[in-house]
Order: sequence, then structure tokens, then C-alpha cells
Amino acid sequence: MSENTPTYNIKDYPKQQMRGSLLEGVRYTCAEFFEKEWEGMWTKVWLLLGRESELPDPGDWQMEPVGIEEILMVRQTNGGVKAFYNVCQHRGNPLVEDAKGSVKRFVCKYHSWAYLPDGELNFAPDKDDFPEGNPCGKVRLSELSCETFAGFVWVNMDPKCMSLKEYLGPIWDEWALRNLHTWKRTLANSMWLPCNWKVVLDNFNESYHVPTVHMGATTETNRKEIRGHINTYFKETRFDLADEGHNRMIMEGGYGVGSTDKDGNILEPLASQLRYWDLDPEDFKSKPEDTRKALQQAKRRLGPSRGFEHYARVPDEQFTDAFHYTLFPNFAVSLWSDGFHFLRARPHPDDPQQCLFDNFWYASPASLDAGTELNRGSEQEVERTLLEYGSGVSIGLGIDDDVRVFVTQQRGFRSRGFKGVYLSSQESRIRRYHELIDDYIEGRLPK
Ligand code: FES
Ligand SMILES: [Fe+2]
Repeated sequence: MSENTPTYNIKDYPKQQMRGSLLEGVRYTCAEFFEKEWEGMWTKVWLLLGRESELPDPGDWQMEPVGIEEILMVRQTNGGVKAFYNVCQHRGNPLVEDAKGSVKRFVCKYHSWAYLPDGELNFAPDKDDFPEGNPCGKVRLSELSCETFAGFVWVNMDPKCMSLKEYLGPIWDEWALRNLHTWKRTLANSMWLPCNWKVVLDNFNESYHVPTVHMGATTETNRKEIRGHINTYFKETRFDLADEGHNRMIMEGGYGVGSTDKDGNILEPLASQLRYWDLDPEDFKSKPEDTRKALQQAKRRLGPSRGFEHYARVPDEQFTDAFHYTLFPNFAVSLWSDGFHFLRARPHPDDPQQCLFDNFWYASPASLDAGTELNRGSEQEVERTLLEYGSGVSIGLGIDDDVRVFVTQQRGFRSRGFKGVYLSSQESRIRRYHELIDDYIEGRLPK
């Protein structure tokens, strides 16, 4: 860790040993690897799939695809959530086709077998005609492990899986401070992309690309000098790799170049944020770096009384800095003071060169009321939109730049001329999670 690396009042994650395996293009293109990954990894991990607020009442359900599976998450009369494979146990027809709905019973469209929300079959036509006996009260939908945390519904296809809390390791305690279950979705775009799901996760596992892809940096650019609203300079970034396979990258809220005009005046949106927190942008003329500490102190002092309830429990740094997490295997999130940038990639049912990509944004209720933070989209909880890749429509500010690179990089991975990645230390999070995928494939699951 460099001497410039910021220190925080949060615990370090343990140091990880990596093997330095060769990571070749076939990991992103080949059907055989895709199959091994499915059997060895996807069917053994906890996956964030649903949102509790989409299931307010008993019988409400949400269905989400992961590879060849479709998972049905259903609110129960006791307030819990159960998850089932979306498949009728009569002769295998899927039970639902839509993304969400509400039922008293799930009725199969093939022969009308009907299941209660708890998975029990309670109607079958001609129920006396079965040599193995009446299936009602006996046959059940096939159930997966299901838990809720931070307002999300998580599932695991492995019947012998560890608890979600164990699986999440240090993430659990850090996120539990935030009241994330109360945050509202203000952007929800999804798109099938012509690239492997790991291309997406690799990208969000490093900020090495940020100057080139998002800030127009060239070979001439001094990378230390181009910070925008966050400081992506690697020597001043903190990287942590958890035993469980998740990781964390912390970048200071920069407020450097780009936060002022040529005369040193503080620009929007920082100027409005300062005013909201009773600070005068004039006082920070030509010294935008000083806004970081000042904002932290003002939010600490005024936040709880203005409805920012979670401020009472999080360290000062979380009021200004970017806490970027990747949860193994497929979920990347930037956690800001009041915004939660949700980025997820899921495998296609059978094509390793496609994935379903989600770009969502959640915002704290107090920030929506105040209209202060960089929260995107509307101020209402929004429904998801499935956009079409290549139609020219934007999936989200900034993220369009990433998507362009996902697609070109996938093309490069097909080339026999590509010899395998050559990673910098600041890209260690990529190496670590590829090696963990190999561990899963070879049967070495985290304890
Ligand atoms: S397959 Fe569902 S009722 Fe026959
Ligand atoms: Fe990016």
C-alpha cells in the first residue's frame, strides 16, 4: 500500500495470495468453459436476484433468469420469501412467463396443475387417475435456498450452501449500517450484450480504464492530474480482497480538476451540494480539495436532523468517497453517500458470448426528498426497461462508454493472436476473481 493511500476507520480485509494463472481468451468465448463455470460456480454461489419492495404482499412474485434457469421468488403469508425453479413438476412446463405478478395459485398452462405460493400442489385435474397416488399435497415445486438482506432477495442453487451472512463476509456488517432496504430505485435499464458476463465484471473490477474511456486521457496525459469527482489515481486508491471472494476499492471524493472553472469558482453540482449543507462555495474558491473535509463535517453535524438517518452510523469518509464493491460472482456496486450504483451481469442460457447486463441506481429517501445528491432518473421507484443493444438508446450516463469497450474487447478475445491478459497490480481484483472461478470449477469452495 502506498504511503499516500487514504486511511479509514474501517477494517482491512486479509491479504490474499494469488497464483498468477494465465487468463486466456477462451474463458470468454468457449462453450466448454462456459459449461464448467455453470456447473462448478453458478450453481454453488449466492446470487442477488430480487428486490423485497417488488413483493409487498403475500402471493406477489418476481421471476429472474440466470443462465438456463428461471427463478421464481414469492412473498409468503408469514412475511418471508421463498424461491422456486420456474418449472411445473408434472411434465416440466414453465409456470410463469412474465417478470412479476401476484397470484393465489400458480396455474400451469399445460394441464392446469395449480400450486400454492408456498410451493405445494393443491389442484390437478383427474387427481384419482395417478398410479403413484393423488399428487395434491404431495408434489411440491422445487425450492432453492433463499434469504433477504439490504432489501434484496438472494438465492443459492446449492442445497448444501453456507448462510448468506457467512458468504458475504465483511460486506454484511458494512452494508447493514446503511438502511439500504429503504432506498428507492430511480434508474433500471437492462440490455442483452454481445459479450461474456466476465467482460463486464472485469471492467468494474478496475479503475485503470477510467481516464482513457471516460475522461478522454491520451498518452500525453498526466494521470495524477485528471481527477474529476473521484480520485482514480491508483497510488491513492485503496484495494481490499476478502477471503470470501468479494472485494472493495475506495477512491476519495476528488473535487479536484473539473470541480472549478478557470477562475477557481466551484461549479455545479458541487456548488449546490455545499449550499444545501450550509457551506458557501465562495469560501472554497480555488481550493476545491478543502470541500471534502468540510462536507464530511457538515453532513456529520446536520445529516441526522435532516432525515439522513444512516449518517449517524457510517464513517465520515462514506459521506464523500466512492466505496466500490464487487460481490462474487456477478454484482458490482458503487456505494456513495446516498446513491447505490447497481451493476450486474448474468450469463446467457447457452451462448458464452452474450450476457444480460443491468444498470440500476438506488437513492436514499432523504436525498430524494432534499434533491441534493447526484441521484439519477426520476424520484419514483421505477420499473425495469429492457433496452435493445445497437438501437442507439443509452443504457446510462457514462456506462455507454463502458459498453462500447465490452463489445470490442469480446471481439479481441476471439483472436488466436491474443495470448492472455497482462495485468497491473491495480487490476488484481480481476485476477483474484478469475482464480476463484477456477477454484469453484475444481471443487475448492470457500469454507
Ligand atoms: S406440465 Fe404443468 S400441468 Fe402438465
Ligand atoms: Fe467505466
